[in-house]
Amino acid sequence: MAEQYFSRRPTSRRAPAEVRVSIRGHGFVFTSDAGVFSRGRLDRGTELLLEALDLGACESVLDLGCGYGVVGIVAARLSDGGRVILTDVNKRAVALARWNLQANGIRNAEVRMGGLYAPVADLRFDHILCNPPLRAGRAIVDRIVSEAPDHLHEGGRLWLVARTRQGADSLRARMASAFGVAEIVRRGSGYKVLRATKGPDAS
Ligand SMILES: C[S@@+](CC[C@H](N)C(=O)[O-])C[C@H]1O[C@@H](n2cnc3c(N)ncnc32)[C@H](O)[C@@H]1O
Repeated sequence: MAEQYFSRRPTSRRAPAEVRVSIRGHGFVFTSDAGVFSRGRLDRGTELLLEALDLGACESVLDLGCGYGVVGIVAARLSDGGRVILTDVNKRAVALARWNLQANGIRNAEVRMGGLYAPVADLRFDHILCNPPLRAGRAIVDRIVSEAPDHLHEGGRLWLVARTRQGADSLRARMASAFGVAEIVRRGSGYKVLRATKGPDAS
């Protein structure tokens, strides 16, 4: 059976593949590999999330489940003075994300290994960005949503992307129950980009 992209220590044979893309007017080069999500190409959901992203003036961004680092690296380039932390459980993804930070000349970001919010347990952010690991199971995705308010500043935002056919609408309902309300900020190619903002009533 093919190895899952969320394996902690992938053992599949290395097969590096370069991904060159232009996003929001900036050129990027990423090294991807076997055993890591979306080898050799930019995932359409990830791309849509990055097209929709509006970081505003912000200080801190979390890319939870960073894979080889696309979301956090683009956010670091787009953010004006913000610092970005990228995290993943997959050891190979963490190594690639570190490599890709260097390759793209990003200095305002760092990569930490670990599950869910453990690597940032004591931190709060202005934005949490995540293309969630739906294949890792509902319990993981539920925790990404339900624990997000504890890791956001007041007015901070959780941004998620999911395929409509893989449960984007139920994900939105879970965000609404944690935050009070959740909006669809972009749709295309069968995906929805969802956003929820932490107000005084978020649980
Ligand atoms: C759908 S992929 C998205 C990867 C990357 N952000 C992108 O858009 O290309 C989800 C990522 O979440 C990671 N992941 C799975 N379970 C996790 C967990 N419990 N904590 C943190 N990351 C996890 C996977 O290893 C994978 O890299």
